Amino acid sequence: MDHATPASPLTARRTGALTGRVRVPGDKSISLRSLILGAMAVGETRISGMLEGEDAISTAKAMQALGATVERTGDRAWRVLGVGVGGFAEPAAPLDFGNSGTGCRLAMGAVAGCPITAIFDGDESLRTRPMRRILDPLQQMGARTLEIRDGGRLPAKVQGAAHPMPIEYEAPVPSAQLKSAVLLAGLAAPGITTVIEKEATRDHTEKMLRHFGANVRVTQMSGHGRRISLEGQPELEAAAVVVPADPSSAAFPLVAALIAPGSELLLEGVMTNPLRTGLYTTLREMGAAIETVGQRNEGGEDVADLRIKACTLKGVDVPAERAPTMIDEYPILAVAAAFAEGVTRMRGLKELRVKESDRLEATAAMLRSNGVEVAIEGDDLIVQGKGRAPGGGVVTTHMDHRIAMSALVMGLGSEQPMAVDDAAFIATSFPGFAELMRSLGADLAS
Ligand code: S3P
Repeated sequence: MDHATPASPLTARRTGALTGRVRVPGDKSISLRSLILGAMAVGETRISGMLEGEDAISTAKAMQALGATVERTGDRAWRVLGVGVGGFAEPAAPLDFGNSGTGCRLAMGAVAGCPITAIFDGDESLRTRPMRRILDPLQQMGARTLEIRDGGRLPAKVQGAAHPMPIEYEAPVPSAQLKSAVLLAGLAAPGITTVIEKEATRDHTEKMLRHFGANVRVTQMSGHGRRISLEGQPELEAAAVVVPADPSSAAFPLVAALIAPGSELLLEGVMTNPLRTGLYTTLREMGAAIETVGQRNEGGEDVADLRIKACTLKGVDVPAERAPTMIDEYPILAVAAAFAEGVTRMRGLKELRVKESDRLEATAAMLRSNGVEVAIEGDDLIVQGKGRAPGGGVVTTHMDHRIAMSALVMGLGSEQPMAVDDAAFIATSFPGFAELMRSLGADLAS
């Protein structure tokens, strides 16, 4: 997807209840990690339940360009033949990660431990996102940034280290992408690579590294912090990966069902890893009826079916410490907050400014242009919930899939229809979103 592709607007109108039983696509974080770790392992990694969205496709292509074999073998079934730690080949052309910050940043870590040079690039949105936070620790490990655009933006030419060194790194921002990049570079380094995080972020990389045979030690620190240590130069062996349904994608039909009166929905097999479920905690505090049934473990992650019923919601104060466990969910939480009664204050959202768009501004603009009172105070977002939303506006999505989906969900509950200028980017993380929502009774039309 690029700017030459014509925009595809979409409009959401209030219908009645949403009902049914659906499974949202595979988790983006786990899908991308399975491609990258699969490419770094020796042998064949079989992935089932894979997210077949644009972000995964661009990451798969990058892994192919680095020498791995990546093939689709069936519906959401993929196979990766890895080249082993340090075994990437120099790509002949720039690696284009499209819209995928995670694919790009994790691949930077993976490449940093190989004696090759690669150019990293992406679409207009990815070209606005900060890369120094990743490249700085990778440089400490021996990689070199040969070229980069002003402000530490893509495209960037990175030379991996011939002899990568392990480091102990205290992450200055809570970011699973940053943590993962350092750990993936640490695979090729002798000795122990350590990342210290003040706030625990999603732990899929640590879990998958163990699943592939690496030695990873995690120690809890005071507060919410963690210390993650990886023993370098392991025999990384291919292993099967089962991708659970993405809780960040499940959030959209879930909130739609909460705000559309009379709705009753079952979302199948949603990952319930506690480092991803801050939204569910918050919605429950707001009074949401979310029942967890059939809890089980699939491929190393806890999953459950979620039963949701429409209900009235009340405004809450969301603590800043919860942000890492729901970092992608603030736009859709802001929609729920508009339909709640009372004020919702979401604290500590600085990181939202460097997502696929400036999500703090984009979320506020989405609400404001549709008649909801909203304010940004420092890093906090404050929504005045009135139990209803007027709607009637057109939302600019800024190439951001989650803004697009949040706006469309809002339109399903608002008094007047709501449109998005471009729904195309939804395919980065949630291919088939409109069809899935229509199957539940939603009115989404171009
Ligand atoms: C992700 C980490 C988060 C999140 C992104 C996926 C990951 O970014 O926003 O959608 O898979 O590691 P940060 O790590 O930069 O917070």
